Amino acid sequence: MIFTPGTTASINLVARSWGDTNLRPGDEILLTEMEHHSNIVPWQQLAERTGAIIRWLGVRDDFQLDIESLDRLLSGRTKLVALTAVSNVLGTINPVREIVDAAHRVGAKVLVDAAQSAPHGKATASDWDADWLVFSGHKMLGPTGIGVLYGKRELLESMPPFLGGGNMIKSVSKQGFVAADLPHRFEAGTGPIVEAIALKPALEYLMRVGSDAILAHERQLAQRAIDGLSSVSGLRILGPSIQSKTGIVSFVIPGVHSDQIGQYLNAAGVAIRVGHHCAMPLHERFSVGVSARASFYFYNTQSEVDAFVTATLRASEL
Ligand SMILES: Cc1ncc(COP(=O)(O)O)c(C=O)c1O
Repeated sequence: MIFTPGTTASINLVARSWGDTNLRPGDEILLTEMEHHSNIVPWQQLAERTGAIIRWLGVRDDFQLDIESLDRLLSGRTKLVALTAVSNVLGTINPVREIVDAAHRVGAKVLVDAAQSAPHGKATASDWDADWLVFSGHKMLGPTGIGVLYGKRELLESMPPFLGGGNMIKSVSKQGFVAADLPHRFEAGTGPIVEAIALKPALEYLMRVGSDAILAHERQLAQRAIDGLSSVSGLRILGPSIQSKTGIVSFVIPGVHSDQIGQYLNAAGVAIRVGHHCAMPLHERFSVGVSARASFYFYNTQSEVDAFVTATLRASEL
């Protein structure tokens, strides 16, 4: 476990350190259409530097990954599969283990973006056999500015340090440096001390509440919201049915820009996220520019859902 500033930093670390060392022109990276930009752009930059090619695993009309095309997309040329365990727009929970096993069969490494799943999920990096797994503290009741890069030890040991500086060395001379052992070789500079201390009780608290209870509560709220929104004419929910997702409810109302919904709800005291949610390729896939997203977590209540639904109904009438 290496402390980083967050998911984005963890992915960039792997792209720079492992990617620059291991990828050659013509090698392939497989991403999914439902990735957050943090799990797209670092690989596009890597592809630009190395001549690697990016391939895409599609999302079906039912908002699930097009798992049937996996075998066609994977080959001996595939060096890396990078996928999110849970979509930050659709809430879709992906079959990570199945994809990891298929990737490993062709010799590819797998990076799992657990930014959205760690706050709910009970699966661990070892359940999934992920080569790397990344997440952010601020999505799981912890502070901003800290996240984790988990990696298999032998893989991390084979990777050159990314950032150089204090803390990541055993020794330095005028001729060069000897890198420190794990995890310090990837933790250059003064670490996020305060953030690391604050992350621990947040995670302990989450584990006490328990992932089953968190997911069950979220789903109940999300279903209540979906039912409440069903009377809005033309409203389209972006996401699969509730048993296949977390408590995220993204939606589009034809003819109403998500900014307008967001502003109206904001004035009504309801905070939602609007825009492309750092997932432009996914919005393009469903032929919408932007969407509105309510994200429920275990601290939300039914009356908050009702306030959200009432305000959204009013906004759509307006
Ligand atoms: C699925 C997913 N991946 C990556 C990120 C990026 O996380 P961070 O901004 O903490 O680096 C997010 C944040 O919204 C996310 O939801």
